[in-house]
Amino acid sequence: MDNKIEVLLRKNKEWAKSVKTGDPDFFTKLTNVQNPELLWIGCSDSRVPANEIVGLLPGELFVHRNVANLVVQTDLNCLSVIQYAVDVLKVKDIIVCGHYGCGGVHSAFVNNKLGLIDNWLRNIKDVMEKYQKKLSAIKDEEKRLDRLCELNVMEQVINVAQTTILEDAWNRGQNVAVHGLIYSLKDGMLRDLNVCIRNFSDITEFYNNIKKAGK
Ligand code: CO
Repeated sequence: MDNKIEVLLRKNKEWAKSVKTGDPDFFTKLTNVQNPELLWIGCSDSRVPANEIVGLLPGELFVHRNVANLVVQTDLNCLSVIQYAVDVLKVKDIIVCGHYGCGGVHSAFVNNKLGLIDNWLRNIKDVMEKYQKKLSAIKDEEKRLDRLCELNVMEQVINVAQTTILEDAWNRGQNVAVHGLIYSLKDGMLRDLNVCIRNFSDITEFYNNIKKAGK
């Protein structure tokens, strides 16, 4: 273990040195203030590092990650991140980013028994049940799982939009939008799921579209 920590410290030294070489004031500028315009809610998966995949530097992205990028109304941790981002940092955009091949989504999909985490992944089973008709119409299992990854992101976008935090922000006229993206491990590309919630009527429209599509 000690060796591993030594390696990390050495790599960190090299990284800090190279950043400083590129911009001698980089760390001084960041010491006093952080002013990100974006909140990123993503999966803890080690293959989906937030800053790297969108090419943003330290200071440019406020990040919350958990298994399967879930936004649960009783999760004080996630809610605190959203509240701080919206009320204090005044971010303009919140991105919920999922990914294909998500282990959490897969576990819920095949009903794996992994322990405590099964309770957390229960939220994905709720998404499965909500869209059962739509999902069972997809015959190819891999495609069905991909679709569940997408639907999970869309549902979490709505969960963000339905927090009291966003409600209060919109009521006071603050501009903040919630978006859903999905990342592909296969090609490193992000795709826009075209759910953008900017206000209360966007939430209504989202639900109307679901109804129209017959779930
Ligand atoms: Co994942």
